[in-house]
Amino acid sequence: MLKHPIFKIISDLVEKKGLECYVIGGFVRDVLLKRPTKDIDILIIGSGIELAKNVAKRIGNVKVNVFKNFGTAMLHYKDMEVEFVGARKESYRKNSRKPVVEDGTLADDQNRRDFTINSMAYSLNKPTFGDLVDPFNGIKDLKDKIIRTPLDPNRTYSDDPLRMMRAIRFATELNFKIENESLQAIAENKNRISIVSAERIIDELNKVILAHKPSVGFRLLEQTGLLEIIFPEFQKLKGVDVKEDKAHKDNFFHTIKVLDNVAGRSDNLWLRWAALLHDIGKPTTKRYEPETGWTFHGHDYIGSKMVKGIFRRLKLPMGNNMKYVEKLVKLHLRPIVLSQDEVTDSAVRRLLFEAGNDIDDLMLMCEADITSKNDAKVKQYLTNFKLVRKKLKEIEEKDAIRNFQPPVSGKIIMNTFGLGPCQEVGVIKNAIKEAILEGEIHNNYDEAYNFMLKKARELGLRKSDEN
Ligand code: CTP
Repeated sequence: MLKHPIFKIISDLVEKKGLECYVIGGFVRDVLLKRPTKDIDILIIGSGIELAKNVAKRIGNVKVNVFKNFGTAMLHYKDMEVEFVGARKESYRKNSRKPVVEDGTLADDQNRRDFTINSMAYSLNKPTFGDLVDPFNGIKDLKDKIIRTPLDPNRTYSDDPLRMMRAIRFATELNFKIENESLQAIAENKNRISIVSAERIIDELNKVILAHKPSVGFRLLEQTGLLEIIFPEFQKLKGVDVKEDKAHKDNFFHTIKVLDNVAGRSDNLWLRWAALLHDIGKPTTKRYEPETGWTFHGHDYIGSKMVKGIFRRLKLPMGNNMKYVEKLVKLHLRPIVLSQDEVTDSAVRRLLFEAGNDIDDLMLMCEADITSKNDAKVKQYLTNFKLVRKKLKEIEEKDAIRNFQPPVSGKIIMNTFGLGPCQEVGVIKNAIKEAILEGEIHNNYDEAYNFMLKKARELGLRKSDEN
């Protein structure tokens, strides 16, 4: 288990200095689970910073990053990030995640950790090298796939409420069960999440979203009441209204199914976010119409308008990734509409124009959006989407709309008619684009140039060499 050369180096060093030392936490867990690891946490009964400096000297003066405030130090060695920390005893204040820290023993340090599976340590001391120190039987929880806190869960979660998110994240990533008392304690302590920064919360939420089956985490977030606090717009998707015997589907369960479907086909975090938000406009747009039943008219548009505010509050990046999610939410009904109507070339061209290079992701999400239990319906939808994909391919090969660049530039228009920048230039450019999308002309220079001349004549413009 301790094959990496760093362990022998450390072991020799602490032997010489008469110190006590362990490898602890995530590394031990992941090695036992046979998961790949990049981080090693070294625990020393004494100063982590000093040990790191000594190790660095020994392996050829590599750079040590010292975090004085935390009493920790880190160095890189043979593609591993090795962190050194002195064993600690911690007590927490009510309104802060920052503990009051004192030096402690190995047992003190294991007590203050989040889960039994994260509290196991391997000895690096010569006489006991490689022995597992596991006071809370973490190894059994690892085998039984259980997330459990070493101490009373109320205390562990209240001490550091980020651990509530971590519990749910590990349960999702590892496909483990959160033990019952722990689950209850999360529900009881949920309001303590308010002392955790949005950045920390989103880090964990993104790990849930990137898991193999993210719905597991969202069910737990909902069940414990955390979802309502950290992501209230999403909570509002839950529930079913019934009127005159007509019910709509539960959009929470529908959405997490769509998310799982996307997760099965793509690792793209932002495509997964788009799946998560595709119906976010439904609660706001929900209406009951006696003839048709429940409707959500405009939820695509309203939903896309909600994306920016949600990203800002959750501290997600506000650049191109956000715009990509907005676009996919806005367009998510278009392939369905296309597949239900007659698939006209111009409708396909317009979709290609608006989706651009994200068309394949949009199609993937729309296929994932089919969660009906009616097999015949599913088959019908999938056949229709196949037709849409075929049409998209044909039209793209013919008209190259995906990366649409106006075949006649504004500059050419200005030069031809001796114009400066003015409204007419925009009108002509737009008319050329519309003519291409409608299929009146092909997407090439010659046809666009002739169309420009015709349009200009209508506007009463003359070529500058005719003046
Ligand atoms: N830890 C804790 N409470 C936290 C965060 C971490 O008790 N809120 C402890 C756990 O023992 C954990 C170790 O610190 O194993 C290292 O934490 P970290 O590197 O954040 O997580 P890992 O468990 O290594 O897992 P991952 O890398 O997947 O986040």
